[in-house]
Amino acid sequence: MRGSREPGWGWGRCTPSPMLFVSLLLSAAPLGLLGEETRQVSLEVIPGGPGSPKNLLHIRAVGTNSTLHYVWSSLGPPAVLLVATNTPHSSLSVNWSVLLSPEPEEGGLMVVPKDSIQFSSALVFTRLLEFDSTHVSKGPAELPGKPYPPYSLAEFSWDRINGSLDPATLSATFRGRPRDDPAKAFANGSLAFRVQAFSGPGRPSQPPRLLHTANTSQLEVALVGVSPRGNRSLFGLEVATLSQGPSCPFLQEQHSIDDEYAPAVFQLEQLLWGSGPSGFMQWRPVAFSQKQGSRESALPCQLSPLHLTLTYPLPQSPIVRAFFGPQTFCAFNLTFGAPTGPGYWDQLYLSWSMLLGVGSPPVDALSPLVLGIMAVALGTPGLMLLGGGLILLLRHTRYSEYQPLN
Ligand SMILES: *[C@@H]1O[C@H](CO)[C@@H](O)[C@H](O)[C@H]1NC(C)=O
Ligand SMILES: *[C@@H]1O[C@H](CO)[C@@H](O)[C@H](O)[C@H]1NC(C)=O
Ligand SMILES: *[C@@H]1O[C@H](CO)[C@@H](O)[C@H](O)[C@H]1NC(C)=O
Ligand SMILES: *[C@@H]1O[C@H](CO)[C@@H](O)[C@H](O)[C@H]1NC(C)=O
Ligand SMILES: *[C@@H]1O[C@H](CO)[C@@H](O)[C@H](O)[C@H]1NC(C)=O
Ligand SMILES: *[C@@H]1O[C@H](CO)[C@@H](O)[C@H](O)[C@H]1NC(C)=O
Ligand SMILES: *[C@@H]1O[C@H](CO)[C@@H](O)[C@H](O)[C@H]1NC(C)=O
Repeated sequence: MRGSREPGWGWGRCTPSPMLFVSLLLSAAPLGLLGEETRQVSLEVIPGGPGSPKNLLHIRAVGTNSTLHYVWSSLGPPAVLLVATNTPHSSLSVNWSVLLSPEPEEGGLMVVPKDSIQFSSALVFTRLLEFDSTHVSKGPAELPGKPYPPYSLAEFSWDRINGSLDPATLSATFRGRPRDDPAKAFANGSLAFRVQAFSGPGRPSQPPRLLHTANTSQLEVALVGVSPRGNRSLFGLEVATLSQGPSCPFLQEQHSIDDEYAPAVFQLEQLLWGSGPSGFMQWRPVAFSQKQGSRESALPCQLSPLHLTLTYPLPQSPIVRAFFGPQTFCAFNLTFGAPTGPGYWDQLYLSWSMLLGVGSPPVDALSPLVLGIMAVALGTPGLMLLGGGLILLLRHTRYSEYQPLN
């Protein structure tokens, strides 16, 4: 079971061998050529008529021959639709009266033209979990502890997003709290989903500094100022996605090296929809207990196995239902923190981020600083050895090419 593995995560545990350094050195160069593509990104709040806020955010990222649509909404639980089309002219069409009806799939939300759609999927953030970790024994199988009743995110009320829209950073924030909060846990706090799109490749200044491209957008989830129900509460998030027939999308763990960009976090988790380049969710298994994320405030992030949710009902998202019709879902839990070490309780702060995108997930290259250090560490003898080896190799292939002619 993936959820019960030792959090393969710690400071300075991994020491790649010199051979690994050499192969990384050789493979680092071409990665710099990736991600030249840029997109024209626009954010639009789709007004839902009078009455209570009906947040619907449409991010449109237009490339030469394609458009990516990200549709975020807090109708029901917070959810995002990701739709990729092969034309720069596709558009989103919303009919509010149908979308809010019991049968939203009858044209409530569409991306047109339909035949331009190359890929589509969705994520639904169903519940905020809280666990009591005070009596947890050290064994990871016991993590994260006894669950408190979860907060259903479908029962939250969300601030209007139009006030949080920032065209300069291409971002917007959904901020919410339970509609019904008898314990006043959220009296001074909130749960926020900050969504950001990118017009080109780059890397944010805040850890975990995930490399992004114009084919990706970022979500940062932050829990701030909420009173925990225990002294050492661990929080978590339940995430659902569309199943693929009888099976769930593929979860992949990639090992990465200890680099300047992500000190001491050696994994990259990826949820892949489909085997070829299609769509993905990517994150590092780390969360932060301070706004200025750092090593000292880094919390491990545990992942439960992905499984079909046929046996228990998940809150439905009208936008997902409208686009895909009735579907089966797969869900998994992310839990942030450990019973010991830094935690949410330090500053009543927790943040975690991920990327969502289409095509191949971005791959980290070594940072220039680390490449520099490696060059110095390998030193001239190392480089000569490497060069000598290459020459020998080339000679050898030459000889073998000539041999048949003899
Ligand atoms: C866009 O599509 C046109 C026509 O199909 C093609 O000639 C062109 O190479 C494509 N451009 C890119 C950047 O893919
Ligand atoms: C929304 O759909 C309903 C029912 O199909 C239709 O009567 C109405 O005209 C549509 N509204 C718009 C703005 O297209
Ligand atoms: C957000 O939308 C509401 C209603 O549509 C409007 O009253 C309000 O002024 C808008 N706020 C901003 C910052 O645009
Ligand atoms: C919220 O903050 C106010 C002012 O700082 C404080 O008086 C109150 O006790 C806090 N409420 C909770 C539930 O923490
Ligand atoms: C939290 O810690 C305080 C002081 O150590 C203790 O009195 C209290 O019972 C604890 N609360 C819970 C819910 O464990
Ligand atoms: C997530 O954790 C909660 C609380 O332990 C549990 O009820 C739920 O089934 C879990 N969901 C998944 C998808 O594992
Ligand atoms: C970005 O998306 C476009 C269109 O969906 C696709 O053709 C391209 O291969 C993607 N780029 C990467 C690096 O995955």
